[in-house]
Amino acid sequence: MIKITKAKIKDAGEIAEVLNVQFLGEKDKEFCKKYKNTEEKIIKDMERCEYLVAREGKQIVGAISLFFEDKACKIDDLAVKQEYQGKGIGTKLIERVESMAKRRGCSKMWCFSSKNLNACGFYLKLGYNLEKIMKKHFEGRDILYFGKILKSA
Ligand SMILES: CC(C)(COP(=O)(O)OP(=O)(O)OC[C@H]1O[C@@H](n2cnc3c(N)ncnc32)[C@H](O)[C@@H]1OP(=O)(O)O)[C@@H](O)C(=O)NCCC(=O)NCCS
Repeated sequence: MIKITKAKIKDAGEIAEVLNVQFLGEKDKEFCKKYKNTEEKIIKDMERCEYLVAREGKQIVGAISLFFEDKACKIDDLAVKQEYQGKGIGTKLIERVESMAKRRGCSKMWCFSSKNLNACGFYLKLGYNLEKIMKKHFEGRDILYFGKILKSA
């Protein structure tokens, strides 16, 4: 059974590993070196962002980070371990974050995704709209801006 909980500092190493799933198909070694997650980076990031983890037993199989700004909640990072993808874990993480955001009075969810990640179908399925495509915006890559208006409970 998958359980979603708030992450603790001791989870940082395992979270970094899970989030690095995003670099699996990445051919640019310099890009990986610069942006790959490490335990230290996640611990530092925990000062700025909240992290939730999805566990099966003791193992972390999915992670999401988010932060709140005014009445909006940004999903900063999200990944599910390859062998656990397609089982609804990503959806569960997003749903949990959306209900947290609603409880805190947010009216909007948003996130950036890179075209390379191919997560477009996932966000569209969960009711997010592709609001903007920013051409060659980050390290020469197209960046997609997804948004979703939250309906109040
Ligand atoms: C994107 C990701 C988080 C989705 O998590 P997941 O647990 O595999 O997703 P779910 O099982 O909850 O899928 C929900 C629905 O979205 C669809 N979906 C998932 N990933 C998709 C993708 N890349 N493209 C199109 N549809 C996708 C699923 O088929 C599913 O549809 P269904 O209900 O009709 O079966 C996961 O695939 C992942 O970690 N990918 C690599 C990292 C990444 O791209 N992160 C996003 C950063 S912005």
